[in-house]
Amino acid sequence: MRLIRAENYQDVSRKAANIIAAQIQLKPYCVLGLATGSSPVGTYRELIAKFEAGDLDFSQVKTVNLDEYVGLPKDHDQSYAYFMRTNLFDHVNIDQANCNIPDGMNPDTEGECARYDAIIDGFGGADLQLLGLGPNGHIGFNEPAEAFAKGTNKVALTDSTIDANARFFASRDDVPTHAYTMGIGSIMKAKRVLLVVNGVKKAQAVKDCFFGPIRPQAPGSILQLHPDFILVADEDALSLVRDLL
Ligand code: F6R
Repeated sequence: MRLIRAENYQDVSRKAANIIAAQIQLKPYCVLGLATGSSPVGTYRELIAKFEAGDLDFSQVKTVNLDEYVGLPKDHDQSYAYFMRTNLFDHVNIDQANCNIPDGMNPDTEGECARYDAIIDGFGGADLQLLGLGPNGHIGFNEPAEAFAKGTNKVALTDSTIDANARFFASRDDVPTHAYTMGIGSIMKAKRVLLVVNGVKKAQAVKDCFFGPIRPQAPGSILQLHPDFILVADEDALSLVRDLL
């Protein structure tokens, strides 16, 4: 694990965007694994600024998103497909035909998981997978469990995840209860993993996942085994491990 310490969220976002920009510049036809949620929004903003400055070309980039809520159509304003369009895709010259995301409206669970795994395997895994970290240590929607999930799967979201996401919906009851997510095995197929994390609310998860034992109860801990894992964390997120650094 390579730790890049950042002062605050803005600094996390700038540092992460620089790494992604370098990836695109070195391999313009790269496959980016992308995440939603609040953590990567600043990173996407920085990437858009680099595009607008003429420093980045997304025309050959392909993407695979981590996850999607089950039951939300692509045009629902809380779907992850909508999030990606409004936070990144609509603002850069990416070909949206090259952007992949699980289909939350596909009722055929097995078929959807197999379809998505075939896309990831067809790419040979992402060149760079961007991740956020849940307050309970989840990556994608791989919640704390008894075992690490290998491929794409349909998960029931935990109460704590539903609570954490309720802020984006009119009420807690509107938060979907299930999601399709890349499995831990699919995430680990990425050649490089870049996780962005900020804030004291994530400090315990950072300690459990990256400074403790590798176990499925702390799903992000598996990343300690990845040969090219970069953690970009701000000082608040590192507040419980400062004496270990
Ligand atoms: C998002 C995802 C989730 C989030 C995590 C952190 O695609 O898969 O694992 O990265 O829940 O969310 P935020 O960034 O909103 O704190």
